[in-house]
Amino acid sequence: MEINGHTRTCGLIGNPVEHTMSPLIHNTLAQKLSRNLVYVPFHVEQGQVADAVKGAYALNVLGLNVTVPYKSEVIAGLSQIDELAQKIGAVNTLVRVEDGFKGYNTDMPGLYRAMCSEGIELEGEDVVLLGAGGAARAVAFLCASKNVSRVYLLNRSVDKAQAVAKEVNEKTGKECIYPMALADYRMLPDKKFLAIQATSVGLYPDVDKAVIENRDFYQKIHTGYDLIYKPLQTKFMKLVKDQGGNAFHGLKMLLYQGIIAYELWNQLSVSEEMALEVYEILKENWK
Ligand code: ATR
Repeated sequence: MEINGHTRTCGLIGNPVEHTMSPLIHNTLAQKLSRNLVYVPFHVEQGQVADAVKGAYALNVLGLNVTVPYKSEVIAGLSQIDELAQKIGAVNTLVRVEDGFKGYNTDMPGLYRAMCSEGIELEGEDVVLLGAGGAARAVAFLCASKNVSRVYLLNRSVDKAQAVAKEVNEKTGKECIYPMALADYRMLPDKKFLAIQATSVGLYPDVDKAVIENRDFYQKIHTGYDLIYKPLQTKFMKLVKDQGGNAFHGLKMLLYQGIIAYELWNQLSVSEEMALEVYEILKENWK
């Protein structure tokens, strides 16, 4: 693609950003859709997020993604915020509007679209959600908004599980999140669950760990979805599969959070067919 006087710029702000795969997603989409757009990473130092957002607006940047550790901090510098992002308290996508940027969370719709693409249902399901950090909190909001039957929220620190459950139940008006200690998985009802792995355990380089190692737990799981995509086969996934369940990694979630951001910036929809083409390229270039 030729970069010329009409080229629009999108990018990623975070720290670090050096290992991101987002440029591959967005630049591939721009090429496939013949859009005159480039996507670049911007390493932003601590304390400079508000300046970065202001500067991006002044530079006529079309949109930004936001990654660790700025997904909450960036909110103060926005002119508008989408309702879901507001509830979750984390923004990963900024869309240029008249008077600044509007913040969205495309991580959760991205996870939902990734699950739909794999044929995983949330509505009416009983879900075991592992973790109570930022990622798990957002998944709990997604589950509540998609009318799951129950979410058993298991975390090492049970006080955090309780706090997340209280907040999500209150903000969504659905009493569907049940907090538990991680070690209490034995007390789960005797049936099969969809499990969503949202802790940081098992993330590269800690590839030989899973948040629950006991095989008894995995006998209760029909489908395991790990938000981690490095490595592509986590220990959690292996344990799920060993007990006969289906297991998925988080690379499709990464893809769809990017696709939804791209759709917001360019006001178009990306077909499932094109999404899967980009997914193949993402897998080929995955490091
Ligand atoms: P993120 O933004 O990725 O969610 P986070 O907010 O730091 O990251 O949350 C990390 C999650 O992984 C938490 O649920 C954490 O459990 P605690 O709340 O008890 O700290 C969980 N976690 C991290 N290391 C863990 C470990 N060794 N065993 C069990 N849980 C762990």
